Amino acid sequence: MEALEAIRKRRSVRSYTGAPIPKEDLETIVDAGRLAASGSNKQPWEFIVVTERGMINQLKVASPWMDKAGAIIAVVMDPVSRWWLEDGAAAVENMLIAATALGYGSCWLEGYTLPREEEFKALLGIPKAKRLLTLVPIGVPAEWPTKAKKPLAEVLHWEKY
Ligand SMILES: Cc1cc2nc3c(=O)[nH]c(=O)nc-3n(C[C@H](O)[C@H](O)[C@H](O)COP(=O)(O)O)c2cc1C
Repeated sequence: MEALEAIRKRRSVRSYTGAPIPKEDLETIVDAGRLAASGSNKQPWEFIVVTERGMINQLKVASPWMDKAGAIIAVVMDPVSRWWLEDGAAAVENMLIAATALGYGSCWLEGYTLPREEEFKALLGIPKAKRLLTLVPIGVPAEWPTKAKKPLAEVLHWEKY
């Protein structure tokens, strides 16, 4: 799928068939995250790909619909970088687009992850000094939402606001 097509198609998918995802595809998705822009090129990220059902079952307290995800990617950031939040966001968006391009559904699950950050860090063995920015479930989509977006004319200004 072309990059622009994937960007246009991407939506938060929260319903999966439960089918497994080949390791190569998960590597391709994480690779897209790794290649994101970052402040001063610090690349302050690491990614944990969880495919074991036991761990997915523990992480799904954040959102029970993650049950049927083929994998959950935990995005681990080093807050020593001044731009770690922006960098992490860039990496996550790249992965969402890559997942879409490969035909998978995914979702940025930060709102429900942050309140459980310490619990999930302990579960996943993430060092204390690092931050868990978000979980990103990846799955074979059972449905593809078509959430409406603001029209271009509403958000685009030429030359001046
Ligand atoms: C920073 C951030 C945090 C988010 N946290 C959650 C979350 O905790 N749970 C969830 O189901 N979706 C979460 N989302 C997904 C948004 O709800 C979703 O992107 C938004 O409703 C627009 O829908 P779309 O992704 O289909 O375009 C998050 C998205 C962002 C960018």
